[in-house]
Amino acid sequence: MTEEIYNAEHIVKTFGHGKNQVQAVKDVSFGLEKGQVTCIVGESGSGKSTVARMVLGLMPITSGKLIFQGKDVTNLKGRARTEYWRDVQAVFQDPFSAFNQFFTVGKLLERSMLMVGKNVGQERLEESLGYVGMDLSVLARYPHQLSGGQRQRVMIARALMMQPELLIADEATSMLDASLRVNVLNVLKDLRDQLGMTVLFITHDIGQACYLADRVLVMENGVMVEQGTTDEVIFNPQHEYTKRLLADVPKLHEEIELHDLQEELQKAGELA
Ligand SMILES: Nc1ncnc2c1ncn2[C@@H]1O[C@H](COP(=O)(O)OP(=O)(O)OP(=O)(O)O)[C@@H](O)[C@H]1O
Ligand SMILES: [Mg+2]
Repeated sequence: MTEEIYNAEHIVKTFGHGKNQVQAVKDVSFGLEKGQVTCIVGESGSGKSTVARMVLGLMPITSGKLIFQGKDVTNLKGRARTEYWRDVQAVFQDPFSAFNQFFTVGKLLERSMLMVGKNVGQERLEESLGYVGMDLSVLARYPHQLSGGQRQRVMIARALMMQPELLIADEATSMLDASLRVNVLNVLKDLRDQLGMTVLFITHDIGQACYLADRVLVMENGVMVEQGTTDEVIFNPQHEYTKRLLADVPKLHEEIELHDLQEELQKAGELA
C-alpha cells in the first residue's frame, strides 16, 4: 500500500499583468507517494522550476491547494514555513544564489541547521559530505574558492544532512560530471530505500529520470500532460509530447543506467 505524502491540487501560477501575463503553471494536479522518487520531465520553460518553488513555499501560488502529510501548506509564511522546511528541503540548479559570500561553507551549514532548529551532528555532516565526494576540509572554505560543481555538491550535502521527509532536487546534478552524478543518483536511491525519503526530482534529461524514478510526470507548456509509473511512461507513452521527448534523446539507448533499469524491470516481469 502506498501513501501520498504530498498533493498539489489544481495549482496555477501566473506571472505579470495584462499583456505581459505568463501562465507558467496551468491547473496542475499530482501526488507524491511516500518513499518514492517522482521525476518531473519537460523542456525548458515548461514550468518545472515554478512547480518546485511552489512546492517548497518559495513563491505564492495564484490558485489551488498544496497538502503535505495531510496538512494544508498553501502559501505558508514566517514560522510555519520555517517549520515546514524541517521536513522539506531542496537543491536548485544555481547554487550560487544560496550562498552568502562572507560565510564559509561551515557557517552556511550551521546557519541552515539553526534556521530550522535541527542540529544533525558531526557524524551525519561528514557522512553527507561523503555522499558527494567531499570531506570536512570544505567547511573552512568560502564560496568563491569553490567551483560551480563543488558548490552544487555542498548544497546537495546540506539538503541530505537534514534527512528531510521530502527532498526536491531541481536540476540538482547539472554541474556534476557523469560519475559523480551517478553517485548522487545512487545516494538518492539508497536514502529512499533505507530511510523512506520521498524525492521530487526535476530534470530535462529523460535518461536520469529513467534511472531514478518510480513515477514520471511530464510537463509541457505549464500543463502536466502525462503521469504514470516509469515503465508506463517510458515504454508506453500515451501523449505525443512524451513520445517526442523520448525520440529526441538517442543517447538514452546507450546509457548504462537505462540498461540497468531495463534489466530490473525485466526481472520484475514488468516488460512485455
Ligand atoms: N519570476 C518570473 N517572472 C516572470 N516569468 C517567469 C518567472 N519565472 C518563470 N517565468 C516563466 O515561466 C515559465 C516557466 O518557467 P520555469 O522556470 O518554471 O521553467 P522550467 O521548466 O524550469 O525551465 P528550465 O528547464 O529552463 O529550467 C517560463 O516561460 C518563464 O519565462
Ligand atoms: Mg528550471
